[in-house]
Amino acid sequence: MKAVPLSASRILLIISGGIAAYKSLELIRRLRERDATVRVVMTAAAQQFITPLSAATLSGQATRDELFSLTDEATIGHIELSRAADLVVVAPATANILARMAGGLADDMGTTLLLATDKRTLVAPAMNVGMWLHPATQRNVDRLKADGVLFVGPESGPMACGEFGPGRMAEPPEIVAAIEQALAAGTALDDSRGAGLAAPGLEAAGVGPLAGRHVLVTSGPTYEPIDPVRFLGNRSSGRQGHAIVRAAVGAGARVTLVTGPVGLADPPGAEVVHVGSAQEMREAVEAALPADAFIAAAAVADWRVENVASQKIKKGERGFPTLRLVENPDILAEISNKATLRPAVVIGFAAETENVAANAKAKLRRKGCDLIVANSVADGASAFGGDTNQVEIIDANGAESLPPMSKADVADAIVRRLVIELSKRQ
Ligand SMILES: Cc1cc2nc3c(=O)[nH]c(=O)nc-3n(C[C@H](O)[C@H](O)[C@H](O)COP(=O)(O)O)c2cc1C
Repeated sequence: MKAVPLSASRILLIISGGIAAYKSLELIRRLRERDATVRVVMTAAAQQFITPLSAATLSGQATRDELFSLTDEATIGHIELSRAADLVVVAPATANILARMAGGLADDMGTTLLLATDKRTLVAPAMNVGMWLHPATQRNVDRLKADGVLFVGPESGPMACGEFGPGRMAEPPEIVAAIEQALAAGTALDDSRGAGLAAPGLEAAGVGPLAGRHVLVTSGPTYEPIDPVRFLGNRSSGRQGHAIVRAAVGAGARVTLVTGPVGLADPPGAEVVHVGSAQEMREAVEAALPADAFIAAAAVADWRVENVASQKIKKGERGFPTLRLVENPDILAEISNKATLRPAVVIGFAAETENVAANAKAKLRRKGCDLIVANSVADGASAFGGDTNQVEIIDANGAESLPPMSKADVADAIVRRLVIELSKRQ
């Protein structure tokens, strides 16, 4: 498959009828800024939320919405349109269009194109949490993944309907990143579709240095509840952990990501488990074993509140509340010291503000893991939430210092090292 850079790509964007349709206008703008060609098709419901004129103005091309058009269909324009794209993107993807796609319906322009296309499809679901979690939607999602459809999001957060939970459409920058990733992996549908391969990463399953391996990764912070509305958290963004997941998927591994609350879309191709507290993270990690490798990139809170209030603690009722903290489970040490089901390679992270290498070496010994990826969070080079990082990869014999680089490059370096460590242990 030939990879297409975003700047030369032709994106067929299908907008379906959800409240997030307004964000697809920003998506068009961002894609056009990157010199992608964007052709827009809107469902009838989408046109209740945004106008074809806005989409046409931003994309610089007329939208195609009518399947039975006397002018456009004189040369079977819909087939032409479906083939003249490098990637088909559905954003927002409603519960309804996911159901129609999963059922193979072709009852309007968008779904007809989706069935006729010879390229991969990336969907960005957006819907109320109840609609997303409904067994019918989840069944459709599983079906589509098995058919090779790629997913970005949805994310968790407050919704337009006032509820909270998973179902928010991924933000336009995340969708652009997923489009780039899909283009880089190659988007032509080939015989692999019939084999039930799901995403660029899964497409690589069976191909690549981690083919046949199960890699378990934790990412993000944990939130330790104080009462139903407050928590103790930390500044981890999850960017480094999520980048490692993408790198491991790209290397052909089956990847399970256990992530704390982050504002990032789920990496395509990985099985993702969302958790809140350290105890929930420990349970999810245990449930995901066995694994060939465990990469503990999450910033797990060291302590939690001993007695979590069942009701919101009111201001000024009994003076200042006193929070008594107790130690959280040490997931990295527990997994490193397992008598059975210990992954062959266990990698921990150390975010230090001083004596980085010395503290990381001590942590390596204390926890019993195989490698520690140490970074300084004291200076600007590796700030929490930033896109760059500077790390040292430390094992019992010494340290490999890497220059400052993007978190994606750090992730690649860690995965390369993982490949070497796994091969040593065969
Ligand atoms: C105000 C409003 C907001 C809606 N938002 C969503 C949404 O975010 N996601 C969704 O799946 N459906 C949403 N719906 C329902 C869809 O518009 C409806 O299922 C429609 O048939 C979708 O058609 P389409 O998939 O062909 O675009 C909304 C409906 C209304 C009236």
